[in-house]
Amino acid sequence: MNCLVLLNLKPKYMTLNHPPFLTHADLLKFVMEMAEVCSPKDIRWCNGSKKEYDELCQLLVDNKTFTKLNEERWPNSFACNSDPSDVARVEDKTFICSRRKEDAGPTNNWEDPREMKARMKALFSGSMRGRTMYVIPFCMGPLGSPLSKIGVQISDSAYVVVNMHIMTRVGDEVLRLLGQDGEYIKCLHSLGAPLEPGQADVPWPCNPTTKYIVHYPEDRAIASYGSGYGGNALLGKKCFALRIASVMAKEEGWLAEHMLILGVEDPKGRKTYVAAAFPSACGKTNFAMLIPPADMEGWKVITVGDDIAWIKPGKDGKLYAINPEHGYFGVAPGTNAKTNPNAIAALKKNSIFTNVGITPEGDVWWEGLTKEPPAVVYNWRGELHDPASGKPVAHPNARFTAPAHQCPSIDGQWENPEGVPISAFVFGGRRSTTVPLLYQAFNWNFGVYLAATMGSETTAAAFGEIGKVRRDPFAMLPFCGYHMADYFNHWLQLGRNIPNPPRIFGVNWFRKDKDGNFIWPGFGENMRMLKWVVERVYGEVVSIESPIGWVPKYEDIDWGTLAFTPEQYDAVMDVDREAWKTEILAHEELFSRMYDKLPKEFFFMRELLLSGLWRSPEHWSLAPETH
Ligand code: OXD
Ligand code: MN
Repeated sequence: MNCLVLLNLKPKYMTLNHPPFLTHADLLKFVMEMAEVCSPKDIRWCNGSKKEYDELCQLLVDNKTFTKLNEERWPNSFACNSDPSDVARVEDKTFICSRRKEDAGPTNNWEDPREMKARMKALFSGSMRGRTMYVIPFCMGPLGSPLSKIGVQISDSAYVVVNMHIMTRVGDEVLRLLGQDGEYIKCLHSLGAPLEPGQADVPWPCNPTTKYIVHYPEDRAIASYGSGYGGNALLGKKCFALRIASVMAKEEGWLAEHMLILGVEDPKGRKTYVAAAFPSACGKTNFAMLIPPADMEGWKVITVGDDIAWIKPGKDGKLYAINPEHGYFGVAPGTNAKTNPNAIAALKKNSIFTNVGITPEGDVWWEGLTKEPPAVVYNWRGELHDPASGKPVAHPNARFTAPAHQCPSIDGQWENPEGVPISAFVFGGRRSTTVPLLYQAFNWNFGVYLAATMGSETTAAAFGEIGKVRRDPFAMLPFCGYHMADYFNHWLQLGRNIPNPPRIFGVNWFRKDKDGNFIWPGFGENMRMLKWVVERVYGEVVSIESPIGWVPKYEDIDWGTLAFTPEQYDAVMDVDREAWKTEILAHEELFSRMYDKLPKEFFFMRELLLSGLWRSPEHWSLAPETH
């Protein structure tokens, strides 16, 4: 039966154009109501086919949004430049509109949902005039997996549709899975750039002055207005898979985390899965796709995901994780054949590049891809690059959107509907001092404290002073859809619920000497640390107690051909009492903001850490006799 009849509705949009097999009355009502508000010129339901993808890419080429790249060197790939006002996530315009302010917590922007809905209704009213309204049914996670969840995004951006094709599983199969009354997350997105009759479109429509990214956790709904870029507009990613999913996870007893998932294959034939959280700009994609040094024969890293993990306790008490995404939305600058050959292979075809440089021959370029830029290249603003100008070719937040399965290190299990078993969590930040290269938390609770207090030195002026430590608990500060202290309690509770929780480790690849030089080579060499992590998981290697956690002995690290002396190791592992006193005081700065809900365990752990520091030498380092 026609669902409109079923709903007894007489819409302005008689041509809802929905697939004939669709029987989900609530979804039809949602689409129809949104069409009434947004007044698009027509409606197109996305079926996820290659034909649809190709058609929309051609439409974007015709509209001068996309430049088709050289087919021989970059098959089926496109590049585009965004509007200069629309280049990154807008954290100050991101809201968690839970019914009660205290549920959003002090680290999220909050407004009363009724007021916000009224404001959104006014903004969305007529916002799609002159444009097509796309209805994008998508699945986060493998189709049919008990860990997956479905969303439906309404958007007036063809760029969003093609990116969603890569980043999620889109189409008819998702609608079939929804059936008549399946649960889905409502995602509404508009560029906020209606076209009046006869008005010519621009290559990157958006609203240059008004942007809002709004989450209604209780309604399981998202409304995004004014931006066409990345996490603002591809609503499956940060908005759904982290902010809304974190709320669902807390209620249902699982975890939605800003984590990569990798597997380590070792010479014994074992596969050990690790989930790792790093704030933005700490090389997360590089770590997820790491290639071990040549001397570490038999060791291999395989990739499950590079940004988000959904993790649930299984019947056996272990934690199982899926990557809810289907592609990579990676930062291009700095990515090259040396830093991340797997990413370079993944983005070589069927990819979309945003805000990189484009050459007249149809190549793309970004800082770090090769040593020198091409002789002639147009920068991300479409101007001919002048090396003397000091302006970069690519925007620092330029991105590639690439299908996950094109990554050579992709794990054969990455779409296993049951997920992969997680044996260890790794937390890291960008710290030039204070935090050692590698340490293991004394236990689960200490690990939660470690993760809750992690921070990263800012690399982008957008976050204020460059080099200042920005606290980013669990790398979730911009992505947790509820009160951060409730989130810490949720992690502590999970540790009580499962019999043998994964081990928790801290890493810092970014420590520097007094002259500002990195003292750890990083990249593939990080495998030497990962090996110790794996050996600790199986209890195959002992450790030394430092004031802040268990640390590896020098001789237990597989140094292979890396010339890294015990003295260098001491320097990168050093725990300085004065620096840690300051560090612990800085933890207080964050905690005092959420004092009302902070787990009591944290007060005790802070005391234990302080007492550990006071009973250790002022300047704790690995004693030479242990080398
Ligand atoms: C991202 C981020 O874009 O974490 O993945 O900022
Ligand atoms: Mn991220």
